[in-house]
Amino acid sequence: MSDKYLDLVSGGWGRSLAKKLGLPQPVPLRRTDPDSVDRPLVPGPVLVLDGGASVRAADTVAENLLGWELDVRRDPDELAKGRRWGAVVIVLTELASPADLGGPALALGGVLRRMAPGGRVVTLSRRADDAGDPAVVAARLGVDGFLRSLAKELRAGATANGIVLGDDVPVGAPSALGALRFLLSARSAFVAGQLLPVGSADGAVPADWSRPLTGRVAVVTGAARGIGAAIVAVLARDGAHVVGVDVPAAGESLSRVMNSVRGSALQLDITAQDAAARILDHVRERHGRLDVVVHNAGILRDKLLANMTPDRWDDLLAVNILAPLRMNETFVEALGEGGRIISLSSTSGIAGNRGQTNYATAKAGIIGMTRALAPRLAANGATANAVAPGFIETDMTARIPPVPRQVARRANSLQQGGRPVDVAEAIAFLASPQAGGINGQTLRVCGQNLVGQ
Ligand SMILES: NC(=O)c1ccc[n+]([C@@H]2O[C@H](COP(=O)([O-])OP(=O)(O)OC[C@H]3O[C@@H](n4cnc5c(N)ncnc54)[C@H](O)[C@@H]3O)[C@@H](O)[C@H]2O)c1
Repeated sequence: MSDKYLDLVSGGWGRSLAKKLGLPQPVPLRRTDPDSVDRPLVPGPVLVLDGGASVRAADTVAENLLGWELDVRRDPDELAKGRRWGAVVIVLTELASPADLGGPALALGGVLRRMAPGGRVVTLSRRADDAGDPAVVAARLGVDGFLRSLAKELRAGATANGIVLGDDVPVGAPSALGALRFLLSARSAFVAGQLLPVGSADGAVPADWSRPLTGRVAVVTGAARGIGAAIVAVLARDGAHVVGVDVPAAGESLSRVMNSVRGSALQLDITAQDAAARILDHVRERHGRLDVVVHNAGILRDKLLANMTPDRWDDLLAVNILAPLRMNETFVEALGEGGRIISLSSTSGIAGNRGQTNYATAKAGIIGMTRALAPRLAANGATANAVAPGFIETDMTARIPPVPRQVARRANSLQQGGRPVDVAEAIAFLASPQAGGINGQTLRVCGQNLVGQ
């Protein structure tokens, strides 16, 4: 799906005109190169700042970044003339008061004009609920407000996101570093203005960062096209064996998608009572194990509630929430150590959307299901998380009439729609061993859509 406005204003006279008229100026985002996935990890040197008593934590972060062969600096003045920062990491894990935020915030402000296109700002802070002292809680929540506003000020495809650590998660834990690496990399292109909670130090650094899913077996529902097909491709690129599921009517395109990654195709309707048992039989026969389930299949049956019919309501609920709930009863037992259940929610499920009472009921339900599964899975080192996409360029959104489509596309900090691959990258990250400390969460992939938080 092409975004002609973006093509027009990405360079030359179109760009100058958009600037002059004060129109949105989206730019092509920094996305992963399929031939060299994480190279370069960031588009320039990385500045590590700290606030409050976080100096030692910042040193630990800087050492780990050096281990990733990045050019790391601790002083904003250390950049040669003409060069631009690839990323700024701000370590704020030991704040005592909001007064501790002024120093690093203003230091960051001083370097923003020298951020590279597609650059990154990432904060590392701590969960507010864990602190009793009002000044500490104020400082910790202050980081959230700061980060969300900053993300709206960045330009040229740069993003700002935060990692919120539980009190007993060291900054050097694999789960903290895994989240940091994801947010610095091109894999997080359409993730903006988000605060990602890392609640535990569980998880492991993969043997090979570019193929973290080596040897894992993944099932993806709704794999024949759109976001599902992109998830299949990215999970396979990251080393997984993938089984794709879709309805028989989509059989031909399902085969094409699955053949392209040497995966296997299973035609079935996920609303069938025995769907999970059939998926499990198929997976066990071929691979002997199941590690990752991605509940991606979904449908739309939009209508204002005053015009809603029972079949539109029931069909939607059956596919988008009741099927995942039923299938999980089987999958939770079958998942191996370190298993992952990742489900597709939507920003409509968070903020609501006119004409989508049925869809938002189901997609908010996905967030609830995910939260409730988390403690059950944690006992086995497994996790359940959701991804909430905003406006993504797919067949589904191509059907929106032109004017509302243009408005929906621009209504986020990156001023453009995301691509299926952007959602797929977030899912592959949550499936990876380094995301083991993230459980029960919903990660928005929406370019900081203006709706909801
Ligand atoms: N496109 C967006 O902007 C967007 C935004 C937020 C959330 N999402 C969610 O992401 C997911 C994928 O969206 P998409 O845009 O790629 O949709 P899509 O319509 O392009 O693809 C959905 C796939 O699911 C399959 N499917 C539908 N019902 C099924 C069933 N009963 N059994 C098995 N397979 C079934 C379809 O055949 C299709 O291949 C959905 O859950 C959707 O709600 C999409």
